[in-house]
Amino acid sequence: MTTGLDGIVAAETVMSLVDGQRGVLVIRGLPVEEAARTLDFEGVLALLWDGFADTADLKPRLGAARAAAFRHVPRLLPAAAGLPPIDGLRAMIAGLADDAPNKEGDGTPLGLVAAMPVFLAALVRLAQGKALVAPDPKAGHAADLLRMLAGKPADPKLARALDAYLVTVSDHGLNASTFAARVVASTLAGAVASVTAALCALKGPLHGGAPGPVLDMLDAIGIGAAAPGWIKAELAAGRRLMGFGHRIYRTRDPRADVLKSVVAGLSSRRIAMAETVEKAALVALHRHRPDRPLDTNVEFYTALVLDAVGLDRSLFTPAFAIGRVAGWTAHILEQEQSGRLLRPDSRYVGPQPSLAA
Ligand SMILES: CC(C)(COP(=O)(O)OP(=O)(O)OC[C@H]1O[C@@H](n2cnc3c(N)ncnc32)[C@H](O)[C@@H]1OP(=O)(O)O)[C@@H](O)C(=O)NCCC(=O)NCCS
Repeated sequence: MTTGLDGIVAAETVMSLVDGQRGVLVIRGLPVEEAARTLDFEGVLALLWDGFADTADLKPRLGAARAAAFRHVPRLLPAAAGLPPIDGLRAMIAGLADDAPNKEGDGTPLGLVAAMPVFLAALVRLAQGKALVAPDPKAGHAADLLRMLAGKPADPKLARALDAYLVTVSDHGLNASTFAARVVASTLAGAVASVTAALCALKGPLHGGAPGPVLDMLDAIGIGAAAPGWIKAELAAGRRLMGFGHRIYRTRDPRADVLKSVVAGLSSRRIAMAETVEKAALVALHRHRPDRPLDTNVEFYTALVLDAVGLDRSLFTPAFAIGRVAGWTAHILEQEQSGRLLRPDSRYVGPQPSLAA
């Protein structure tokens, strides 16, 4: 029996196809390479929501919803202040549950998608002792996140790179956080509870928590020549290399190459070093587990893209959430339409009660 639900089909979805053998990801009919090249965040949100939610005028409505979310910040920020950004974000999002339902901008899928960058930027600015920056409803979602963080208009090249990242990670089959969202949605607990559950699942280093440690790894290695020795020692100590391996892919994660080409278009001081480390890691992992294909996953080049657009490593997992909430909300809407409670079975292996005399 498998304890990780490997290979179990728990839902039918129109959202994305992950073909782990061929290394292919299709988001509602579009190969991820094409989606990242041709869509911005609003574009992929409209694609994912098509047929499940109103996608007309999504850009201005999302901008207006960001402005509406900003009005919740004074109420929600104090309880989240001082927490690590991903925990603060989760606390603020969970706080939307108490709001009056169904005003556009509150606890609806649109409101949740809109609130993520607004709440994250508020948490960061507060932690830096800087004045909060209100959203610009006319800006693109990615550009507005960079603007609210930095307090000045975003460099269009960096905003475009962030858009490509958000599109690349917008959906990915029944990954752990999306599954968590669907389980909670299937109880009809609503979108706020479902997205909160997804944020809890995303945080772990085996899921969305890996890209920060990827940069830690690059820093610890220091220079490319040190990579083989450092990696060998790490594997010998029984530790996993962050940014490698995947539950579904038995070949290279196609998102790794999409993000590698995004980072190649930016002036990243880390790219040459990262390529050296990647090569050394692939050789070492093959030696370490010749029976198990362990290749580069999305998180390796995520770390480089997000670093190059100017995000601190503590913001990498929240940035992932800002992209993946497009998929979470699409799956929540899809799950609610199916109406069936997700409730797997377990096999009892504990002690039997002793028979009464
Ligand atoms: C992503 C991940 C959790 C997938 O795990 P999985 O499908 O459950 O794979 P398993 O845990 O069954 O791993 C199979 C074997 O390969 C090893 N392995 C998997 N990924 C590894 C890695 N990155 N470094 C070293 N060894 C690894 C495991 O130790 C395991 O060996 P064992 O059977 O002796 O315990 C795993 O590859 C991992 O921890 N990667 C590092 C974290 C990361 O990059 N996360 C982001 C994912 S997008």
